[in-house]
Amino acid sequence: MCGIVGYIGTKPVKQILIDGLRELEYRGYDSAGIAVLQNHQFSLFKAVGKLINLEEKSQKFESTGFSVGIGHTRWATHGKPTELNAHPHIGSASSVVHNGIIENYQELKNMLTSKGVQFLSQTDTEVIVHLFEYHLKTANTPFEAFTKTVGELDGAYAVLLINAQVDDTIFFAKHGSPMILGRNHENETFFGSSDAALIGKCHEVIYLEDGHYGVATKDSITLYDGQNNPVNLQFTPLSENKLSAQKEGFRFFMEKEIYEQGTVLADTLMGRLRDETVYFEELDPTLFDGINEIKLCACGTSYHAAMVATYLFERHARIRTSVEIASEFRYREPLLAPDTLFVVISQSGETADTLESLKMAKKAGLKTLVICNVDNSSMVRLADASILTRAGIEKGVASTKAFATQVTVLWMLSLTLASERKILQANEIAHQIKLLRTLPSVVAVDNGIHEQLRRLSKRYLHGHGFFFIGRDVFFPLALEGALKLKEISYLHAEGYPSGEMKHGPIALADPELFTIALLPQHKLYDKTKSNVEELSARDSTICSISPLDFDKADDHIRTHYHEDYMLEFFEMMVVLQLLSMEIAVRLGNDVDMPRNLAKSVTVE
Ligand code: G6P
Repeated sequence: MCGIVGYIGTKPVKQILIDGLRELEYRGYDSAGIAVLQNHQFSLFKAVGKLINLEEKSQKFESTGFSVGIGHTRWATHGKPTELNAHPHIGSASSVVHNGIIENYQELKNMLTSKGVQFLSQTDTEVIVHLFEYHLKTANTPFEAFTKTVGELDGAYAVLLINAQVDDTIFFAKHGSPMILGRNHENETFFGSSDAALIGKCHEVIYLEDGHYGVATKDSITLYDGQNNPVNLQFTPLSENKLSAQKEGFRFFMEKEIYEQGTVLADTLMGRLRDETVYFEELDPTLFDGINEIKLCACGTSYHAAMVATYLFERHARIRTSVEIASEFRYREPLLAPDTLFVVISQSGETADTLESLKMAKKAGLKTLVICNVDNSSMVRLADASILTRAGIEKGVASTKAFATQVTVLWMLSLTLASERKILQANEIAHQIKLLRTLPSVVAVDNGIHEQLRRLSKRYLHGHGFFFIGRDVFFPLALEGALKLKEISYLHAEGYPSGEMKHGPIALADPELFTIALLPQHKLYDKTKSNVEELSARDSTICSISPLDFDKADDHIRTHYHEDYMLEFFEMMVVLQLLSMEIAVRLGNDVDMPRNLAKSVTVE
């Protein structure tokens, strides 16, 4: 996803900007650019592809003495990854970089075009710089023009803007996309969309809040809140240690990755939701032509995401869908029909069994699609089409945010298929899109629930086993919950469809058997409840997770009310992730690097 850096100071600005962008490279991008302002003159460089291309383009540019600069790595959302669409975007004497999406850009663009403004790119971002210059004509100061501009933007943004009239200044604003401001003892000011770009350069930072905007010059920083009240500058020290700084105050990468799921899912959704359609810019519209069946294939957590998709694809798009564990698929001499779309799901894009299955499907002449978190990975290069999940780097071996993004993409894809196949009406798709838009807040960690899990985890450190149970999509979620617990606590755990317990597993029921029951209000509540009651009657220890009270439970985790079962799914996912983590912490295990496991398994 996109990255932003900014600099005010006297050091060679080009290198500082490019070094900062390099720290943000892990987020993935397809073009990059920098703009430098010195003695009222702009120098602008942009390049498609990796930073090395930008370095080559700007090779001859050197600056000495004071300057300001802004830089950007772009992950295309509105418009293709071309040089024209790369940031910074320019007006006649201003330049802007932006992360996020300006939702009312078309409206603003129409207004500006009617006033004779010419646009160079297809991006939403370009409206910001032109709107600023439009207001500059009547404003008393450039800052007044900037304030007016920010007040008219709807959507999510982190913005840096520079203008030739004020060549010691960067204007900044943040709403819904991260932006951090930092400074050091050498009187330098930095901006970054993640603190990864600032570590080692600044000793203190301000994590800007939504609504914050302001102006930084070589002598001062002025900050306002969303109500235009001045904000006191409260800097916090920035760690110099890259690893601990990257944990951003969390105990483990896994914990940080659970907590950042809201931001990450906003990235996954970005640019892909319209009012009544889901739009994957990267998919050729002919991909689904002639397709009557979908076969999903994956390993581990990605396999659980694929299982969720079997419910959603058949339910929403009425298309026959099956799922395969890659290590089984490759040797079972499967029958493959040419009207099948073969979809592999992989966080890394390198898992040996999944990669091999993809090769087999290609060889059999099937159309192939990969849902993956790593651009340029082997699977992305091999498949006919790819959708990137945009989870950012996942360091915890136990996958959390990668799973959340996979399920989100699959849910969106089920709607793309539903409209392609004309199964759901436009209003039904619009409703699903409305639900999808709430995901970032649904997965935000509830501090009360986290605290409760921390406390009750002490009762779940022994016993002869755990059963995670659920129905429908809550069955693969139960499998995923059990896998998380196994991976990091080393306790025996199984996921089961709750209706299957009576066919054998219930024989294990006693107080030392822990049942983690997923009881969503909006999907087969009564059926699942009866199954849990059967276990409770046999004295299994029950921990229920539900928005509804359940009097047969020994422990009850009350989730929030949601209007749809898929939203309940996502909140319960977070609860299961935190529960496993808290149990593993109490057992003193290495949460981020559990024994015997690898993040990317490139052997079969
Ligand atoms: C390893 C990881 C799991 C992951 C699985 C599949 O076992 O530890 O977290 O789910 O591989 O990986 P992939 O990169 O293909 O999603």
